[in-house]
Amino acid sequence: MLNNLQQQPADKILALMQLYRDDPRPGKIDLGVGVYKDATGVTPIMRAVKAAEQKWWTEETTKSYVGLAGDPGFSDAMIDLVLGDAVPRACVSAAATPGGTGAVRQAFELIQMANSNARIFVSDPTWPNHLSILKHLGLPTVSYRYFDADTCGVDFEGMVEDLGLLKSGDVVLLHGCCHNPTGANLNLTQWQTVIDIINAAGAIPMIDIAYQGFGDGLDEDAAATRLVARSCPETLIAASCSKNFGIYRERTGILMAVAQDTGLKAVTQGTLNHLNRQNYSFPPDHGARLVTLIMNDDALRADWMAELEDIRTGMLGLRTQLAAELQRLSGSDRFGFLAQHRGMFSRLGASPEKVERLRSEYAIYMVGDSRLNIAGLNAETIPILAKAIMSVGV
Ligand code: LMR
Repeated sequence: MLNNLQQQPADKILALMQLYRDDPRPGKIDLGVGVYKDATGVTPIMRAVKAAEQKWWTEETTKSYVGLAGDPGFSDAMIDLVLGDAVPRACVSAAATPGGTGAVRQAFELIQMANSNARIFVSDPTWPNHLSILKHLGLPTVSYRYFDADTCGVDFEGMVEDLGLLKSGDVVLLHGCCHNPTGANLNLTQWQTVIDIINAAGAIPMIDIAYQGFGDGLDEDAAATRLVARSCPETLIAASCSKNFGIYRERTGILMAVAQDTGLKAVTQGTLNHLNRQNYSFPPDHGARLVTLIMNDDALRADWMAELEDIRTGMLGLRTQLAAELQRLSGSDRFGFLAQHRGMFSRLGASPEKVERLRSEYAIYMVGDSRLNIAGLNAETIPILAKAIMSVGV
């Protein structure tokens, strides 16, 4: 049987991670995988997470199963974090998942169960794993224009035109904030236009929000998601705690399904539970528990928010420094978009050949589409990167 298997294409981001690990050159710079690193290159365990772990270590009395949808306290905490008071709690069904990727996967499966004719509209570009999972599930996709390679901003006109192809029942996958891989985001007026198009077509928005707190702030980054949830009859939301709580390997995420018609709650919640049972039974609990403890303890929550804010402003500072250094070296403002983009990533606009030269000649690692992880930089590496960008001629 196993001899029938075919080698699967390597995930580009994860393959790059391995290449970087295997590179013996000192001074190599990792701007690849989307993991936050501090100025010393360490992905720290956040203070509140460590404190919650200590607390839980003394308080935990059993390792028995939690419910199929995970601990209800986690759902409440995450609904509060992502949706605030945008919609009544009775409108929201939710299930914990293994990471944000797990939530994305469950959402796609839910769509497939509910409407086998649905097409999934995805931004061009989007996180490569979105496409990979959609392909794996055999869901039809339509890509909509999103990134303007000339301005490195959003091609909003193109996006609106392409969303004009939506039919009733189609799903539009949107990044709630900090678009991955481009770093270019819609403003709230543009979000409202997108909502109007979706509602006019009778389509359904699905929001992937993996970087809340990394852009303009926790509430600011959730503003678009809240607007959508409030304005559309139904919304799917896949949220991740990997980045904003720094608990990548704990696999902590949640899928929320918002329906203005509260009569749909029982069947929707039941379906989320069922999907968890089919795929992995019970979702992991440890990371979810830490998040719940933090969100329900005023001191821990305040400390987590303060540390997250330091991370966010640190990344903004790196963006400003990199844009300024490139402005100095190039004598032009064409890299100003780096300071305008939000989140961990920006797409630089370099060709794959130039990205490869940055890797082979300068030991600078970024994803082939020229996505760079801003958090991989520090005050010392910014001038090195800027000089290398100039010398390969981006
Ligand atoms: C990324 O985009 O680099 C992260 O979301 C990590 C991943 O799983 O790809």
